[in-house]
Amino acid sequence: MKRVLVTGSSGLIGSEAVENYDRRGFEVHGVDNNMRREFFGAKGDTRWNLQRLQSSTRRFTHHEVDIRDRAAVFALFQAHRFDLIIHCAAQPSHDRAAAIPLDDFDVNAVGTLNLLEATRRHTPDAVFIFMSTNKVYGDVPNEVPLVEKATRWEYARPEDYNGITEQCRIDQCLHSLFGASKVAADVLTQEYGRYFGMKTGTFRGGCLTGANHSGVELHGFLSYLVKVAAEDREYHVFGYKAKQVRDQIHSADVIAAFDAFAENPRPGEVYNLGGGRENSVSMMEAFAMLEERFGRPVRWQYEEQNRRGDHICYISDLSKLKAHYPQWSITRSLEDIVNEMVEFEMHRLGTVGV
Ligand SMILES: NC(=O)c1ccc[n+]([C@@H]2O[C@H](COP(=O)([O-])OP(=O)(O)OC[C@H]3O[C@@H](n4cnc5c(N)ncnc54)[C@H](O)[C@@H]3O)[C@@H](O)[C@H]2O)c1
Repeated sequence: MKRVLVTGSSGLIGSEAVENYDRRGFEVHGVDNNMRREFFGAKGDTRWNLQRLQSSTRRFTHHEVDIRDRAAVFALFQAHRFDLIIHCAAQPSHDRAAAIPLDDFDVNAVGTLNLLEATRRHTPDAVFIFMSTNKVYGDVPNEVPLVEKATRWEYARPEDYNGITEQCRIDQCLHSLFGASKVAADVLTQEYGRYFGMKTGTFRGGCLTGANHSGVELHGFLSYLVKVAAEDREYHVFGYKAKQVRDQIHSADVIAAFDAFAENPRPGEVYNLGGGRENSVSMMEAFAMLEERFGRPVRWQYEEQNRRGDHICYISDLSKLKAHYPQWSITRSLEDIVNEMVEFEMHRLGTVGV
């Protein structure tokens, strides 16, 4: 039996990883200290998801460990020899980081270093997967020439059609402190692969979605939007004429990419991981999809000022991942993702029978 460690195991991606590996007979260990609640308040609380996992899994053990606590992380690695580490614990918000720069860096950068070093000391043959972000590219993607269409910003040049590749530069641009702390972790993970030869893989996420997100205004765009629309509350749009574009990937397709890498690791590699061109959607287009499903207009308010450093149009070019792992592909369409989230919210609100 294989043993996997998932950090951020009560979060969106972590919980999907826990369920996936538990279903497949792994011994699964999760680390999460519910810090999402500290970052975002009660609405960010992830305990409900932990309880859900504890009642639905067979070989899952939860550890209330803070990844900043080096001694506790090292002790965990000493006690259990992990074959696979899926690292998803993070301060995940671009905007929140400015108010908590020390916590942001300690969790994202130092926490990642603690885990990499614990892996090197105790289980150097393990596969180590780090969930990075497209914010490591800072606002460089905004340098790509765009044209304005009726409902979205679009890349102007045909060669940009598939989106941003891993060749995009990561420095000399505006990142937000979150982007900067993730760059540190992203480069450290690559370095443990390149310098020490460890089986590390870095995945730079686009918009990762799924019903199990504790979506809040500052993190989890689609999850939060569906919640607001379901409750008929007002959504705030920040700049770019509500035509900003994001590519949406379901958490199950994220885990499938991790699996492909874990089966055949390429030490130190970096991949973009988002929904790609087919699963891209603008704010206005997302409103239209939800209006159709809820049968009423989405109420939204427009604020001219965009979020600092926010991407105007971001689509992940998935060519490298598909070339290295041809068995992997997107299996959940944008429609599937939205339908699942709408259904989940309607059940939560008791508007349809479970
Ligand atoms: N959701 C997205 O759209 C998105 C996009 C790009 C990248 N990412 C990255 O993917 C990863 C997972 O994101 P997610 O959406 O599942 O986030 P999430 O907030 O749902 O999950 C992260 C979990 O980590 C836990 N955590 C935070 N600090 C911790 C600490 N110090 N010790 C232990 N646990 C801690 C939180 O309580 C939370 O449950 C993050 O690294 C994030 O930056 C997410």
